[in-house]
Amino acid sequence: MPLPLIHYLYPSGLPKYLPQHEDGEPSWALVTGATDGIGRALCVELSARGFNVVLHGRNPSKLARVRDELQAQHPQRRFRTVTADAASFSQADIDRITGEIADVPLTVLINNVGGTGVLSSNFMHFKDTTPAEIDGVFKVNVLFALQLTRALLPQLQHQQAPTLVMTCGSQAHVGQPYIAAYSATKGALHAWTRALAAEQRALGGSQVDILEVVIGATYTQAFEGDSNFPTGSIHAHARCRGPRGARQGRPRTSLRVCVLLASRADVLPGPAADQRRGWSCGEDTETER
Ligand SMILES: NC(=O)c1ccc[n+]([C@@H]2O[C@H](COP(=O)([O-])OP(=O)(O)OC[C@H]3O[C@@H](n4cnc5c(N)ncnc54)[C@H](OP(=O)(O)O)[C@@H]3O)[C@@H](O)[C@H]2O)c1
Repeated sequence: MPLPLIHYLYPSGLPKYLPQHEDGEPSWALVTGATDGIGRALCVELSARGFNVVLHGRNPSKLARVRDELQAQHPQRRFRTVTADAASFSQADIDRITGEIADVPLTVLINNVGGTGVLSSNFMHFKDTTPAEIDGVFKVNVLFALQLTRALLPQLQHQQAPTLVMTCGSQAHVGQPYIAAYSATKGALHAWTRALAAEQRALGGSQVDILEVVIGATYTQAFEGDSNFPTGSIHAHARCRGPRGARQGRPRTSLRVCVLLASRADVLPGPAADQRRGWSCGEDTETER
């Protein structure tokens, strides 16, 4: 059996974050960048597993369309939308979003929004990156996640039940040439999630789990039209499985949390084709209290 398929044998850890509320209302999850790609697939998984979902995006009509599709698939679930452009947001946007969801029992925050969309090309020499592109790529990949998490941490802690902050990292955090600015953002996220996890552990009684999922190459809209990935309409399906219960100990790295399955990745060419053919498996840094 190919090693990545083993991930499907692990049970999901998500039920841990789905406590029964007295009023019968399921817990809510917030997914940033929920209108496409991995974020949208995460919304499908979360709603199938019993969560109500807040979808974040920048395009109100696309958000409404995705929300309506999810509502049709899961009529028993509830969905909300919040809007902000993560590449040009202000503190007022963060305050507005936290205000709009202050009334829901939020137990899962997924910092998914990101990518290289603000760059003129997915792959380029760093010297060709403009100052505005560097600002934008840090805003959408790092600053939005940090500011939103900072604002929502009190709400997560207030649940007095296990809650999860999951952040989508990238293998680029090791420092990948030709995507240097993007690599820097994912390196920053990597350090931040480890620091945040250590803080939560140091608090002792905190029930906030911090999880970074380091995603492997996954064919989403981010690569459509890119000459390095010359295929047509390939849809990526993401299935994320959360941590299976807390364990004492230091942060650890495992391979079991995230399985990313590209349905037609067999047509992808290139030297890394073996990694992309049929599946792509992300490493995750899972920090447990
Ligand atoms: N795909 C990969 O191979 C890969 C590998 C490693 C890590 N990752 C990470 O995984 C995450 C998701 O990637 P993906 O490939 O699923 O991306 P994607 O297909 O491009 O989807 C990105 C999502 O974020 C939204 N978004 C993009 N820029 C935004 C902005 N400025 N403001 C608000 N929303 C914005 C998009 O909205 P629209 O629908 O409006 O475009 C879409 O919903 C990213 O953090 C990325 O860095 C991906």
